Amino acid sequence: MNEKSAQPWNPDAYKRNAGFVSALGQPLLDLLKPQAGERILDLGCGDGALAVQLESAGSTVVGIDASHAMVQAALAVGVDAHVMDGQDLKFNDMFDAVFTNAALHWMPRTDDVIDGVWRSLKPGGRFVGECGGHGNVSKIITALQSNLTRAGVPFQNPWVFLTQEQLGGMLQAKGFRMDHVEIFPRPTMLPGDVSGWLETFAQVQLHPLQATVRRRVIAAVVEELRPQMCSADGKWWADYVRLRFHATKTAPP
Ligand code: BEZ
Repeated sequence: MNEKSAQPWNPDAYKRNAGFVSALGQPLLDLLKPQAGERILDLGCGDGALAVQLESAGSTVVGIDASHAMVQAALAVGVDAHVMDGQDLKFNDMFDAVFTNAALHWMPRTDDVIDGVWRSLKPGGRFVGECGGHGNVSKIITALQSNLTRAGVPFQNPWVFLTQEQLGGMLQAKGFRMDHVEIFPRPTMLPGDVSGWLETFAQVQLHPLQATVRRRVIAAVVEELRPQMCSADGKWWADYVRLRFHATKTAPP
């Protein structure tokens, strides 16, 4: 979570509208294979839900997040969490692994993230993560953009959704060995209609608006997306695309 993007985070609303983010984290934990005694950095730890699971595998976890509110929520569940921008990591040769879920797409300076992760890892350490990939939530973005434009509000895009070639290329250019990289669609069921998603994740665009304009834009986006995202049984599905990877900091020869 990156507060520099002017996206305010509310841990209670996050739990209500976006509990699926950590609930769907198991395949990534399986890819990381945390070992007892390992020291792991959770980059963009949010409310600490996955850091707690890493700790239950016997690892020692440090969480960082740019959102003060999310760090408070992570501290409250016992995570050693700190306010820090993932694009400006302050660690050296400390971690056996850096883990990140649903956070990298909030950090436009990907090269700075990768530099910081490289510095943070011990030689042979692994960088394992998942984020939104190229094409992620494109239906939501298109509807939000067109309705904001109609309301006379310029659209800001705080997200970066890379292709697997772009991310793999950047990691390899830094010296990482790419063990695995894949991009895949993951239609994701929302707990309600898309308004909860917008109120949780589209604050960069919606927070500055007057309350009446905000409500009007959200209602219009919901109606525009209903035929595309709401199935016959009334469930709403977001068009998530995930970019998942496992890379290793090669030891010097
Ligand atoms: C995601 O996890 O893919 C995501 C979350 C919020 C905004 C955009 C993408």
